[in-house]
Parts: sequence; structure tokens; C-alpha cells
Amino acid sequence: MLQGSAPGKLILLGEHAVVYGHRALASPVSLNTKVQLEPFAGATHLGDSSIQDERLKQALALALPAHGWRVQIQTDLPIGRGMGSSAALTIALLRAADSITGQRSSFDELHARGFPIEALFHGNPSGLDHAVSALGSAVVYRKEQPPLPIKMPPHQVVVLDTGHAGDTKKLVAGVALRRPKIGPSLKRLGELVEESLSVLTDPKALGLLMNEAQTHLEMIGVSTPKIAELVQLARGAGALGVKLSGAGGGGIVLALTPQGPEQVLAAAAQRGIGAFACTLGKH
Ligand code: PMV
Repeated sequence: MLQGSAPGKLILLGEHAVVYGHRALASPVSLNTKVQLEPFAGATHLGDSSIQDERLKQALALALPAHGWRVQIQTDLPIGRGMGSSAALTIALLRAADSITGQRSSFDELHARGFPIEALFHGNPSGLDHAVSALGSAVVYRKEQPPLPIKMPPHQVVVLDTGHAGDTKKLVAGVALRRPKIGPSLKRLGELVEESLSVLTDPKALGLLMNEAQTHLEMIGVSTPKIAELVQLARGAGALGVKLSGAGGGGIVLALTPQGPEQVLAAAAQRGIGAFACTLGKH
């Protein structure tokens, strides 16, 4: 069977500050999207006819030949929670297209071809998400520059779901309005990324930086009472570093759990909060 797959991502540090020229640190996660192609005598179409997402149809049209294929999509990723589900789909589609011709596109080709597809879902993507998906490696990313792959050990994390999506565009605009007052917090969020690069193998030190980042994300106004509740819950259950990940305003909370995910998962389950364990690092 012809197919392609790609992982989602999590931002460890640097969200929002990256909009102002600081670097961000992001990593692929052990959750994938898989696209399978079955030969079909007719127009290329989605195998699951219950999906009526126009953007998905356009994505198929941009990535695949117009005729000849029935497309099945499977994903482990939550949709619309800042975990890069659309980026993973984009790269999986392009890899599935490659499998038809037997070619293996380079990172640069995948990244360039991915922009118009990601734009269907994100309007004006920075390119970070589908760079991580295509590289399958942790990256340090500065706007408008090529992503820098870095080595990171496979950290165990738990992702806790606030239950609703944050509106990235609105949150970024809100931060812009609060400048220059929140300038020092944005600067500190950028510095935390730089400091993290020398402690990537030390979960305790990395956790401290993540906790400090959460404080500044609260100060720039992108956290919510629900996020703060999940942060406290995960910290109370022994997680070493806990912060929102992505744009905030909802979405997900990322908890570093080198001791294993069980306690945090149990605490979340007890409160009826959606949570799952996964690993960061190379995929
Ligand atoms: O929620 P996500 O994963 O799309 O991340 C948004 C990250 C921001 O820094 C808030 C915005 C951006 O374009 O980098």
C-alpha cells in the first residue's frame, strides 16, 4: 500500500516570543498522522465520505494527483489543540504523493511544498509546525530562518487538554496590544529558550525553565483559569515542569514527567480531565 506519515509537535519554550524575533524550541511527539492511498478508477477523493471539510479537500488537491486515488487518513493527534495536526497531515500527504513516484523529497522540498497546504488551515503559518513534522527532530526556530535541528533525549511528557481550542490569531493580536508593557516578559521567554539549550538532558533544570515560562505566559495574558488549574494539578502530581504549549487561551498543557506519567494521568482522570502520555524528541 502507498502511504506517508508524519508526527505532530509540541512547543517546549518560546511561543509568542518567537513572533518578536526570539527563538522557540519545538519537538516532534510520538503521535502520528498516516495517509494511505488505494488505487481508484476516478477522481482522487477522501475514503471517509463523512468528513466534509473543504480545506481537507483542497489539501488533497494541492498534494496529490487529481485522479487515481482513494485517500484514507488516520491520526493519533488531537485536532485544533496546537499539536500540529494540520502540519502532520500536510507532510504525510506529501510523503504519500512521493510514494506514488518512488521519489524521496528533501526537507527543503517538503517544507516549501508544505506552505500552501498549511496556509489552508492557518492563514499565515510561520512554518515551524511543518518543519518539525518534516524533520522529525527537535528544532530551534527563528522566524524567517531555516530551522536548526538539535539533539534532545526522548523526554516523557503528559499532555492535558483544557477541552477547547485557543484562537491563535486572536491571542497573538492580544499580546501585540499589551506591548510595550509586557516587553520584559517576552524578552525573558526568549532567554529561557537560550538557557534551555544547555540543559536539554537535565529534566529537573529544564522543568524549572518551563515553570518560569508559564509565569511569563500568564503575565502576557495568554493563560486562562482552566490552564492554571491544569498546571497546578500536574505540579501537585509531581510533574517537574508544567506550562501551556502553543498559543494558549485554551488548548493544551504540557507536563514534563521523567518519573513516569502514571501519577499525573491518575490525577487528571480523577478530575475528569482528558490527558495522555507521549514522548518528545526524535521520531
Ligand atoms: O498554537 P500553535 O501551536 O499554533 O502555536 C502558536 C505559537 C505562537 O508563537 C503563539 C504563534 C506563532 O505564529 O509562532
